[in-house]
Amino acid sequence: MPAPDAPSPDALSQDALAAALDFYRHVGVDIAVGEAPRNFFEESETAAARRLEARPASAERVEPHPRRVAAAPPRKGEGEERAASEPSRQAPRETFREPPRRPAPPPLPEASRPLNPALAADAAAVAASAAESAAGARNLDELRAALDAFQGCALKTTATQLVFEDGARNARVHLVGEAPGADEDREGRPFVGRAGQLLDKMLASIGLDRSQVYISNVVPWRPPGNRTPSPLEVAACLPFTRRQIDLVGAEFVICLGAPSMQALLEIKDGILKTRGRWMAYRDGARSIPAMAMLHPAYLLRQPLQKRLAWRDLRALKRALDGEAPDFAPTA
Ligand code: URA
Repeated sequence: MPAPDAPSPDALSQDALAAALDFYRHVGVDIAVGEAPRNFFEESETAAARRLEARPASAERVEPHPRRVAAAPPRKGEGEERAASEPSRQAPRETFREPPRRPAPPPLPEASRPLNPALAADAAAVAASAAESAAGARNLDELRAALDAFQGCALKTTATQLVFEDGARNARVHLVGEAPGADEDREGRPFVGRAGQLLDKMLASIGLDRSQVYISNVVPWRPPGNRTPSPLEVAACLPFTRRQIDLVGAEFVICLGAPSMQALLEIKDGILKTRGRWMAYRDGARSIPAMAMLHPAYLLRQPLQKRLAWRDLRALKRALDGEAPDFAPTA
């Protein structure tokens, strides 16, 4: 007979269950996909090796898309430097409902990186197919459909849905974030969670709202457990992001956070060093004034840094009001 104040066996098992769920939530588990654990890394390596073996020699050549127009070569968002501005660090538990972004594993030094020809060939084929598919999209609806059909980014298999865009397609400002979180994955719209609410306030501080800007991410599918998208995932989606920027044709591109800045402006420095400076987003012969700003998720954790964001927002406002940006083209 249990002691009168001891918890009943039922209550005990409920506590244990709650503790297990809490543990899963903290390590980033947010969806049950099966009874047994699966090693997706191993599976995709094996599949890549199989595809390489099965590929006829002639398939090495990629035929140009008939509608292809000046397909920009895919640029890699290399250098997964976890700068302070990225939306990955954990907020205090009581104020941040979403699991934090966890850093992607750091890249191995060049010399010790294992050469996996199957994966390298696969990455090149993915880049070629993404560039071809993105270049073939004549408008944003076609681009969304092309992304929906794209099989080159494994994040698609774990995400609930594509998170493509929000705001006005003819906006003067195009804000590009990192990747959807849990709320965005559920709703299918970027920046609808707590970071999005802060973004709304930031925009309001310079007299803008969502109907006056265009919002997207460098990766349109939620990384499992809210981790930072890997350089390969960003690279796979980059031709679509670049085409999206091209089709929107905004006057100003704002990169929210380091992954967006690194991918679009090809800068490896941390965002605290780079934010607030007008730079060039280049697309072929075209060059659009672009600025990196601190990510709202970072500002939720580091509220004192809002003064820097406020400075950058005012620079954007001045540019929107007609002041020529102090334009410092990137090398
Ligand atoms: N963080 C991002 O970078 N993008 C979103 O859409 C939401 C949170």
